[in-house]
Amino acid sequence: MRNGTLKFASLFSGCGGFDLGFIQHGFHPQGAYDSDPEAVENFKANISGDIYNVDLTNGVPNERSLYGIDALIAGPPCQGFSTAGKRLIDDERNHLLTLTGHLARRIYPKILVVENVAGALSGAHARYWNELDETMRLAGYRTKTVRCQAVDLGMAQLRKRILFFAWRTQRDIDFTTPSLPAGDLRSVLAGVKNQINHHPQRLSTQSREWQIAKRIKPGQKLSNVRGGENAVATWDIPEVFGTITENERTVLELLRRLRRQERQRDHGDADPVSLGRLEAALGGRFHRLVNGLVTKGYLREVDDGVDLVGTFNGKFRRLAWDRPSCTVDTRFGSPRYFLHPSQQRGFTVREAARIQGFDDGYIFHGNEKAHYRLIGNAVPPPLGAFAAKIAKGLLGRTS
Ligand SMILES: C[S@@+](CC[C@H](N)C(=O)[O-])C[C@H]1O[C@@H](n2cnc3c(N)ncnc32)[C@H](O)[C@@H]1O
Repeated sequence: MRNGTLKFASLFSGCGGFDLGFIQHGFHPQGAYDSDPEAVENFKANISGDIYNVDLTNGVPNERSLYGIDALIAGPPCQGFSTAGKRLIDDERNHLLTLTGHLARRIYPKILVVENVAGALSGAHARYWNELDETMRLAGYRTKTVRCQAVDLGMAQLRKRILFFAWRTQRDIDFTTPSLPAGDLRSVLAGVKNQINHHPQRLSTQSREWQIAKRIKPGQKLSNVRGGENAVATWDIPEVFGTITENERTVLELLRRLRRQERQRDHGDADPVSLGRLEAALGGRFHRLVNGLVTKGYLREVDDGVDLVGTFNGKFRRLAWDRPSCTVDTRFGSPRYFLHPSQQRGFTVREAARIQGFDDGYIFHGNEKAHYRLIGNAVPPPLGAFAAKIAKGLLGRTS
């Protein structure tokens, strides 16, 4: 470690959120690697150090130049583990976590830090994480997995993530996560108006989406499958989805309860309801009511039962000014998924970037659709900084 410089390299570097946290803590980039040309373009434009547009399943191109670096950081794709997705156990992307361990063993950094979603630790999916852990232990590293909440770092976002540390230094440190007051949207979006990458696209007042958005208050979402004051059902917006009678409303609300009560399948969080159960609950009038709701497009026939139309749990989710945002994902620009607290639109690139902890000096180039993907997939720089601080402790550095 000449001149005391800390060196790091980054695998699956995306647009560099994780890297920014390490750079903030004085680590010098030695190489970053990602297969997405738009991630590479944005990384290059904003972050010092070389980035290579490569498929890491073919290995790290200049591997030798990285041998023995201080830290190797990696943010392999999380889509196969995320509870927001299908969680296919054999999703090809899951193997990139295992690959990370094999690449790290060859590069032999003093420390490896890997970030992923908490879903990588649950159920059968944990086997990939365990394999990574075992690979590093067999290579002589000590390991630790830390669960983090972005709000505990003072961010204005409810984002749960896990960090894996493997180190071969002799240090023992305190891995306790801080517990700072959570940020809120009002403060994180203050003064965003004149910033670059801020192009609000309001919904047209003629559109169906605008009519729906008008009915959703801060903290609420469009959802047929959950009751309570935070859910607005499609049948609460008759001007868009069609009017129903009070009796029909009773059927829809009953069905919403029943479909989660007696589980038939081992996947999803609810099931269609059999006609027998509906008849038992509603008596002889049930045929007429159910048929009417099928005709109106609120119910659909499924095998020997019926189910609600629109079983998504939450679209048009309107965030609130005085609370942290939910997890920023790649759909943050779409009002069909996320609504600005007080305007009929999704979030701009700059707003999404701010909520993810990127400062306004990070300028996004190229295709705007890609910006949302890069931001949603990024490790928030403050989470990267938290990981970097721990890494420094493990390397025996205090400043
Ligand atoms: C979760 S994102 C990484 C986020 C990044 N660490 C950050 O903080 O911005 C996962 C990245 O893995 C990249 N990736 C997926 N498969 C890859 C492969 N086979 N080789 C290299 N990169 C890959 C994707 O392009 C994506 O940028």
